Amino acid sequence: MKTFIFAHRGASRLAPENTMAAFILAQKMGADGVETDVQLTKDHIPVLIHDETLHRTTDGTGYVKDYTFEELKRLDAGSWFSEKYKGEQLLSLEEFLQWIASTNLVMNIELKNNLIDYKDIEQKVFNLITHYKLEHRTIISSFNPKSIRRFRRISKEIECACLTSRRPKDLQQLIQDSKANALHIKYTALTKGLLKEADRLQLPVRTYTINRPSRLMRSYKLNLDGIFTDVPHSAIEYKELY
Ligand code: G3P
Repeated sequence: MKTFIFAHRGASRLAPENTMAAFILAQKMGADGVETDVQLTKDHIPVLIHDETLHRTTDGTGYVKDYTFEELKRLDAGSWFSEKYKGEQLLSLEEFLQWIASTNLVMNIELKNNLIDYKDIEQKVFNLITHYKLEHRTIISSFNPKSIRRFRRISKEIECACLTSRRPKDLQQLIQDSKANALHIKYTALTKGLLKEADRLQLPVRTYTINRPSRLMRSYKLNLDGIFTDVPHSAIEYKELY
């Protein structure tokens, strides 16, 4: 069965999301890939963090975009999760790619330019991916179709996925408009009809965020191209049972 298991923000049920601890744990568990989120700092460094603000996953406050990378590096990105992870730091995309390059993992980089329009994020992310020669192990995704289109203008080679939490009214139109060549869709929006349409359009389909055994098993049964999970160890266990 082809279904790839991506650790969502790393093994984020067991370690603080988007930190090296969560990524290394996902790799040790045997995930096929890792998913992460990228934003830009005040000095335009791509940094891995899901929210536009700092308070949920660090001991900082305010917006990511208002701090330099050096300032963000001083924050504690682990204590909020557990004392065990005190001192985990935010990672730059470059630090992450250096590590990815030393593994066999596939990665999905989500461009978090939905609420804030980070105008040069696509070019910055592309430059780093090519610097580390990771084009063939990368999937770019975004909820913002304009961002996918901007990335596509820069690279025809790297796979780009349209992210959506709702069933698209017209999948073909969405794909044409965004120039994406894959679909990342919320599990609850997935239907057999949509999968049939994606198949007709030759689009790989991956779904998020799957943790429950029943959903894992259904995703394997549907032979999806990939799933995003907070619990890669459990996803692997169920895949082996399937
Ligand atoms: O990329 C899949 C999933 O991560 C999208 O949702 O909210 O975690 O960015 P979110």
